[in-house]
Amino acid sequence: MRIEEDVKEELQRRPRRLRRTAGLRALMRETRLGVDDLILPVFVTHEADTTRAVPSMPGVFQYSVDRAAAFVEEAARTGLRAVLVFGIPGSKDDTGSGAYATDGVAQNAIRAIRERVPEMVIIADTCLCEYTRHGHCGILDERLDVVNDATLEILQQVAVTQADAGADIVAPSGMIDGMVGAIREGLDLAGHGDIAILSYSTKYASAFYGPFRDAAQGAPAFGDRRSHQMDPANAREAMRENSLDVDEGADLLMVKPALAYLDIVRQTRDQFPEYPLVAYNVSGEYAMVKAAAQNGWLDERTVVLEMLTGMKRAGADLVVTYHALDVARWIPGG
Ligand code: PBG
Repeated sequence: MRIEEDVKEELQRRPRRLRRTAGLRALMRETRLGVDDLILPVFVTHEADTTRAVPSMPGVFQYSVDRAAAFVEEAARTGLRAVLVFGIPGSKDDTGSGAYATDGVAQNAIRAIRERVPEMVIIADTCLCEYTRHGHCGILDERLDVVNDATLEILQQVAVTQADAGADIVAPSGMIDGMVGAIREGLDLAGHGDIAILSYSTKYASAFYGPFRDAAQGAPAFGDRRSHQMDPANAREAMRENSLDVDEGADLLMVKPALAYLDIVRQTRDQFPEYPLVAYNVSGEYAMVKAAAQNGWLDERTVVLEMLTGMKRAGADLVVTYHALDVARWIPGG
């Protein structure tokens, strides 16, 4: 009797027996990363015939409209299904009018991609910071503060012109109060009731966006974004932001950045289980890995797969990542 108990206890205490071979490990794997989980950001410049490297993001380029469409076609061949489009306009002004011009750079890019790769899911970043002279995400008053409600009217136009151009999903990224509700109303009134909204619902005021501001040329000319983006110290407030966006009609939620905020990913997944959740693996997270890999300090492929798997394990359904094309080539199965 006694011996049997001991044997049983010993048998129960050996989780390593399920890790013995690659086959067993594959069978026991709880979280799987697939090509369908990835969203590839694409930077499109108004300039013609351009492929320009982004110095702080090795492997990332700004493309002219035609080349952006060709790049997306190449991405589609690896099995990738979704891109997130950012535009870099020729001129900037106080209201960011290039963001809602019918022939704005993002609108032109969306049309070109839609024509060349009809099945691609096109997500448009819906914000003003790349298009305003001052680089802020909204209209400023005389005290140089972002004016909330006047900005909402502009964001409606941005979203509608992006939907007109062929975007499947618009993604407001400015953390302006009421942006999701205003955009939903604008889209519905324009006959775009079937276009979804991916809200950057919890976007933190993060230093990890540094390289992006190089890539998209949207750094604030003065000040910072702390009056609208969230304080990195706050988690309960993130749930409040999610609730508001869900009430206003968001179809998908996002946590951004990803790595330093995986607890927020987990809480959002648990508290908003009905909504697809996106984690944004941002430019600074990408740059850190690239810099270390170029120095031979980290094994890029293993580290990237570990990071992205961690984001999924934390509860993300989808990940926006500059590594998407590499990952799609590493893990065939699209
Ligand atoms: C704003 C926007 C930013 C990013 C995505 N959309 C910049 C910001 O808020 O300052 C950052 C993405 C990244 O760092 O990869 N349109």
